Amino acid sequence: ESRPFASYGSALHIALPQEPLAGQLLTLLIDYEAGEGPGVCWLSPEQTAGKQKPYMYTQGQAVLNRSFFPCFDTPSVKFTYSATVKVPEGFTAVMSATSWEKQKDNTFVFKMSQPIPSYLIALVVGDIVSADVGPRSRVWAEPCLIEAAKKEYDGVIEEFLVVGEKLFGPYVWGRYDILFMPPSFPFGGMENPCLTFVTPCLLAGDRSLVDVIIHEISHSWFGNLVTNATWGEFWLNEGFTMYAQRRISTEVYGLPYTCLEAATGRALLRQHMDATGEEHPLNKLRVVIEPGFCLFLGVNPDDTYNETPYEKGYCFVSYLAHLVGNQSKFDAFLQAYVNRFKFQSITADDTLGFFLEYFPELKEKGVDSIPGLEFDRWLNTPGWPPYLPDLSPGQQLMRPADELAELWAADGLNMEAIEAVDITGWRTYQLVYFLDQVLQKSPLPEGNVKRLSKMYPKISKAQNAELRLRWCQIVLKNNLEAEYSKVKDFLHSQGKQKYTLPLYRAMWGGSEATRALAMETFSATAPQLHVNVQNYVKKILGLE
Ligand code: BES
Ligand code: ZN
Repeated sequence: ESRPFASYGSALHIALPQEPLAGQLLTLLIDYEAGEGPGVCWLSPEQTAGKQKPYMYTQGQAVLNRSFFPCFDTPSVKFTYSATVKVPEGFTAVMSATSWEKQKDNTFVFKMSQPIPSYLIALVVGDIVSADVGPRSRVWAEPCLIEAAKKEYDGVIEEFLVVGEKLFGPYVWGRYDILFMPPSFPFGGMENPCLTFVTPCLLAGDRSLVDVIIHEISHSWFGNLVTNATWGEFWLNEGFTMYAQRRISTEVYGLPYTCLEAATGRALLRQHMDATGEEHPLNKLRVVIEPGFCLFLGVNPDDTYNETPYEKGYCFVSYLAHLVGNQSKFDAFLQAYVNRFKFQSITADDTLGFFLEYFPELKEKGVDSIPGLEFDRWLNTPGWPPYLPDLSPGQQLMRPADELAELWAADGLNMEAIEAVDITGWRTYQLVYFLDQVLQKSPLPEGNVKRLSKMYPKISKAQNAELRLRWCQIVLKNNLEAEYSKVKDFLHSQGKQKYTLPLYRAMWGGSEATRALAMETFSATAPQLHVNVQNYVKKILGLE
């Protein structure tokens, strides 16, 4: 019997013929059909890169897989799965599984032999092909993208896995493959085990957005192996993953570059808290998500998605490392933590309890209750992180960008000083950092942004999605009407939530002209957006 549960799903109640005994194996066969629903996305040929064949994909996190198959759709329950998928001629099916096999009649058989939570089950059916990029890694993409996909990551994935294993322990998932999704995929990356899904925006041609891959690889330990038991403690997945990502990045690319990347993350947290107000209840690490027992009380966990679990979570984990005071000791703790809780779902109390148990001398000192830095405050009080890790090793990369942004924000432009700065050799994240500074100082004095645009086509005509996002934000904040079409083009070209929502917010908060631009762009692109993203944009535009 199906009973009401929440606005984001209903409950399946099953009466058993007799009460089962504890420990008794019970087989339940559920015959069902799925099709419409937010978890399963059906794309027309026009919505793919090749424009020839339709495509379907599933996105489970956080609570969407309940519309894909009946399940205990909570991260607190883990299970193995197998699936038999029959697809039409000319299509290939792939899943987040440890093994797969193609049988006759275009039938694919998958098996995930490690216990995982429901949100990590994922399926894609499309015209896709693969190419090897490492001993346990291949890329999947539509045929027209496969060359670019291979070129982007050939020979680089294995090193991240090896460093991850050295830091956090064995990689238990067998393969690590990457699937490039159609442009409307709403995330940068999704850590489906064995097979990360990523936005095609990562195909920048220069590996500059590889931090997303390192992030998803880091979930192999934090999130997929040790999992948050409830979505209210999502920071356990994302905060630890941000920390792990930056540990791997530090080993591979060095501390200065990693601090620069972390500084761009901090800027995102700043923007988020400025937009919501620091005291917003979502700006604590432990978020109250009412159980959905009442139809109208339940908070949809997907609606709580923001930067706080990522970047404030990162700060808290960095704070724990700071308390330990020694990187290798903290690395050893992380490895012990993964080993202690692997294949389990846990709460922050488990994490922090284990931390204090692992470092009894810190427990003795009462580090959990240092005034202003209480663990309880980190978890339950909204606001800016009470401790920020030191990013000064990135200064050598940030300072030139800070100084250049200063110059561009001045009333009378000192062109001589500006022209003396050569940005041709700057890394993408240096430019991102520079643009975040410019955005923070915007609106700039009349005429400055127009000159900036002309001076740096590398920025204003960039194809790199992270640069395009910032440039569009600057264009909007400075009312640079001549370049509004770039905002429109960018929103037509992809549908990532973290790019789409900030731009609609900026347009809606701007002038009459930008509001019109928002409406026009949304009516043209709405059908190609993921339904969640569609609904969030509607909210921003007051269409709901
Ligand atoms: N697991 C998330 C994506 C996600 C979060 C999907 C919540 C659904 C609900 C993924 O690991 C992620 O964080 N992706 C980031 C990558 C970035 C932080 C490097 C993204 O998509 O931007
Ligand atoms: Zn993540």
